[in-house]
Amino acid sequence: MKGVVLAGGTGSRLNPLTRVTNKHLLPIYDKPMVYYPIQTLVNAGVHEILLVTGGKNAGDFLRLLGNGRDFGLKHLNYTYQEGEGGIADALALAEHFAEGDSICVILGDNIIENNICRAVANFAKQKEGAKILLKEVTDAQRFGVAEVRGEHVVGIEEKPKRPKSNYAVIGIYLYDHSVFQKIRRLKPSGRGELEITDVNNFYIEEGKLTYEVLEGWWTDAGTFDSLLRANTLVAETGANKPSRTGEEQLATDRVLR
Ligand code: DAU
Repeated sequence: MKGVVLAGGTGSRLNPLTRVTNKHLLPIYDKPMVYYPIQTLVNAGVHEILLVTGGKNAGDFLRLLGNGRDFGLKHLNYTYQEGEGGIADALALAEHFAEGDSICVILGDNIIENNICRAVANFAKQKEGAKILLKEVTDAQRFGVAEVRGEHVVGIEEKPKRPKSNYAVIGIYLYDHSVFQKIRRLKPSGRGELEITDVNNFYIEEGKLTYEVLEGWWTDAGTFDSLLRANTLVAETGANKPSRTGEEQLATDRVLR
């Protein structure tokens, strides 16, 4: 499995903080924001990573991250998104890198308390389709929201006015290689973007989308409120805790080998 960190977009909701830098380079407590999603992938045993970025400050990522030495990596891959055509538009750039492999995609502003070892190990057993991760929230209108019936997600709505549940779809997605064909079928949404929610709904139509509920806290950091929340959570409890027992880590290592 390969990993993709999406760190494009304009970060316009954080203006003027993002006027002269990229949102994902802003500090979250003691590290730049982009460190957290990269660490999430590394902790799950995903070591081949592509970073998609864009905008005027893309070169700063190379200066900051180099070949990923801070994460124990030997190499990091980079690509550049022209414009800000949406999350799925950014992900399309990873097709060449994926080379037919399955991928774990994480949004560059998503930070978690723990790890995704169990989800990654379970997805590796799934063979095809996709897996999303959900988290109960009190402000579901801000997110993609999953309608869950028993074992299944039956639909996802992007930023609904009247959410059908409190389950936000967090910005960590596991996909088989058909994700790139699905992205080619997308049409821009009302906000002019290729939506990752539409991709996930294609998987639901095929009956190939599974889900898990994430343990521990999760936050994005793309608004002033969530940026503050992310800083507070990381400062108070720390982020990216590896698997408690090491058993899940071993399971992940086994299936990824
Ligand atoms: O955080 C989880 C939520 O992220 C999901 O619940 C939503 O379904 C999903 O659409 C997304 O919603 P946001 O409106 O918060 O996404 P945002 O536009 O803030 O983009 C999130 C990250 O995606 C951003 O930090 C970098 C990456 N991105 C975004 C766009 C629009 C790109 O790489 N390129 C882009 O063009």
